Amino acid sequence: MKFLLIHGPNLNMLGQRNAAHYGSQTLAEINRLVQQRAGELGVEIAIFQSNGEGALVDFIQAQSPQAAGIIINPGALTHYGLSLRDALEDCRLPVIEVHLSNIYAREEWRAHSVVAPIARGQISGLGWWGYIAALEFLTAELRKK
Ligand code: DQA
Repeated sequence: MKFLLIHGPNLNMLGQRNAAHYGSQTLAEINRLVQQRAGELGVEIAIFQSNGEGALVDFIQAQSPQAAGIIINPGALTHYGLSLRDALEDCRLPVIEVHLSNIYAREEWRAHSVVAPIARGQISGLGWWGYIAALEFLTAELRKK
């Protein structure tokens, strides 16, 4: 079973961004933690980060036929990325939307997600643990089937 772990704009800068919101881990460290848990669970993950919405759409279109589910932190595209939202809907995979920070406890514009209505669920505010929780959920849910 393979999952896609997708990171949107600016998440390549983790470690240098505001640690109060995003924690102090780099993206490479977070990816390593998720990879490690995936290994323990016996599932595969393909990881991708881009600052461009088109590249994220291309990745989803190319990789989703071989995948069972998607874990995505869309970064700021969460709030306005309609072509990303459509690509996620079109691939018909279960999508878990993850945010490191609690988007409901920040600026008002962050509280609206265009992805949430087509997501299986959303995790917001648990830091990098959110990716682990998403991975565990998808693995358990899809193994039931
Ligand atoms: C984020 C929240 C977004 O509002 C922001 O633009 C990000 C990161 C988060 O993980 O908390 O870049 O998705």
